[in-house]
Amino acid sequence: MAADERKLDVDGSHVIVCPNAEAASRLAADRIAAIIEAAERDRSKAVLGLATGATPETVYAELAARHRAGSLSFQKVVTYNLDEYYPIQPLDPLSYRHYMHQRLFSLVDIPANQTHVIDGTVPAAFAAEHAAQFDRWIEADGGLDLQLLGIGRNGHIGFNEPSDLSVEEAINLPTRPVELHPVTTTDAVREFGSAEKVITQALTVGIKTILAARVILMLATGPRKAEIVARSLKGPITPTVPASLLRTVAEKVVWILDEPAAAELG
Ligand code: PGA
Repeated sequence: MAADERKLDVDGSHVIVCPNAEAASRLAADRIAAIIEAAERDRSKAVLGLATGATPETVYAELAARHRAGSLSFQKVVTYNLDEYYPIQPLDPLSYRHYMHQRLFSLVDIPANQTHVIDGTVPAAFAAEHAAQFDRWIEADGGLDLQLLGIGRNGHIGFNEPSDLSVEEAINLPTRPVELHPVTTTDAVREFGSAEKVITQALTVGIKTILAARVILMLATGPRKAEIVARSLKGPITPTVPASLLRTVAEKVVWILDEPAAAELG
């Protein structure tokens, strides 16, 4: 562990606080590279659940740099992305398929047929079945060795938004079509340019699938995330704060934060 990182145990959750967002991204990239190496050694491939959004951009830049430097190959890596807007074309610059192509897939040696992003063009009548199929593909690949996560300001993970479900129901949610929460659509104006253009539906990997990953890395940086990080780690475990449900599997979750995102942990 680098000298300037702080390791915390927050009510049983493992938290590493880095001095800044760059250091947090480097640490996340270190962990991902180590998981790829270990999974390839143990089962000849590594199956990664990947996230989009502003936060992981620097993680992908770091992974791509390691590939360019010759220290990291993605030839035996299989990826499943957390979510996709619906409906959306893969070539739309706002699609998560496009995001992943630009920031990682086109920059490394991963075979195209090993990258999975939920299809935002599937007809509405088949959307639920396509989502269920995504879970079956992950299972057929032996499950996720790693799930990389970000956190929304409302505590969402993937596009699993706050809900009134019971904890039991929420932790069993499969991959499925969803309506986006007002906080999510407000934050998406940054990507879409105006409120009218924001796509308000999505397909998301379910909480059940996320929690089944062998390792979960939650990356949160910046002062805007401080309040929801503290609520997730120290408030009640509740589906109204989906990220708090990570505490039901706390032993395999690592929260990687920068100092501003950790500011309200006390
Ligand atoms: P952000 O999104 O990285 O763009 O803040 C995080 C999330 O909604 O998961």
